[in-house]
Amino acid sequence: MCAMKAIRVHNYGGPEQLRYEDAPVPEPAEGQVLVRVQAASVNPIDYKLASGAFKDRMPLQFPWTPGGDFSGVVEVVGLGVTGAQRGDAVYGDSPGGGAYAEFVLALPGMVAPRPRTLSPVEAASVPLAGQTAWQGLFDHGRLDRGQTVLIHAAAGGVGTFAVQLAHWKGARVLATASAANAEYVRSLGADEVIDYRATPFESAARDVDLVFDLVGGETQKRSFAVLKPGGRLVSAVQPPSEEEAARHKVDAMVFRMQASTQGLVRLAELLDGGTIRTVVTHTYPLAQAQDAWRQVMSGHTRGKIVLEVRV
Ligand SMILES: NC(=O)c1ccc[n+]([C@@H]2O[C@H](COP(=O)([O-])OP(=O)(O)OC[C@H]3O[C@@H](n4cnc5c(N)ncnc54)[C@H](OP(=O)(O)O)[C@@H]3O)[C@@H](O)[C@H]2O)c1
Repeated sequence: MCAMKAIRVHNYGGPEQLRYEDAPVPEPAEGQVLVRVQAASVNPIDYKLASGAFKDRMPLQFPWTPGGDFSGVVEVVGLGVTGAQRGDAVYGDSPGGGAYAEFVLALPGMVAPRPRTLSPVEAASVPLAGQTAWQGLFDHGRLDRGQTVLIHAAAGGVGTFAVQLAHWKGARVLATASAANAEYVRSLGADEVIDYRATPFESAARDVDLVFDLVGGETQKRSFAVLKPGGRLVSAVQPPSEEEAARHKVDAMVFRMQASTQGLVRLAELLDGGTIRTVVTHTYPLAQAQDAWRQVMSGHTRGKIVLEVRV
């Protein structure tokens, strides 16, 4: 076992840079496992990293294989790894990329048993988006029962989990989405869906405890006005203005998702218990990653897009 098929990027750029080609199978170092990938999901960070937008802070080493989350089966257990065995069905995160391939290296602390009721494709759609939703709402947003949350981009990958988790927590859920996604977002548990193209969300949302910002830009700037004093703006996209936060007497922050086995196990319990679900709207074979990226880059996909590697 020394060669595999992988998507690789050799220069910064767009989807045209994705090449489906032979690559060496990575070897697990001490403390790592090698996972035979069944499916990998597409996340906006994949194309943002490849574009070079973050090359000062997070430069890529070429050739680079994108892919921050996956499902698969443990193939090789590196030295010093306990608690993982060859043949384990797992799902997890690979924050530096690597999952758009037949094999990916992973850290045991960022994988967990695959939810038993989910297919490999469904499981691959969960790790990055699901944990981002949990951490944004609960770890950083401190959302509690009876509070009101406004979730922007509620129909997308993270938003789909966020609406369900906030509803499960017992919060009142306001959500922005286009009219075509209104019914969908309601079905996830939103109490009110604001068609952001037809209605300024400020006219429909007031005295909000938490804004979960998955859009950034003007949407983020305008969100300060809907918060009650003492409220919180938590963004997964970009740092909010400290001046605006002080002016509105609210807390505002940006965060980056931190993957963990514990976070994955918690989501698996909610998924297997039927409390939340994942929504995969399209799948593509690994070789068609370019098409998958073009779709996600439209900024208007519903739920998750997944690459099938070996299902
Ligand atoms: N910090 C982190 O660790 C972290 C982790 C995950 C994601 N993120 C970031 O979070 C953002 C969302 O990620 P994602 O995976 O959920 O993206 P996504 O699935 O691509 O989001 C697509 C959704 O965005 C909605 N949308 C687009 N413009 C909107 C607007 N102005 N107002 C309301 N909804 C709008 C679309 O709804 P309509 O089609 O109805 O318009 C669509 O359903 C991305 O910027 C991503 O990079 C950060």
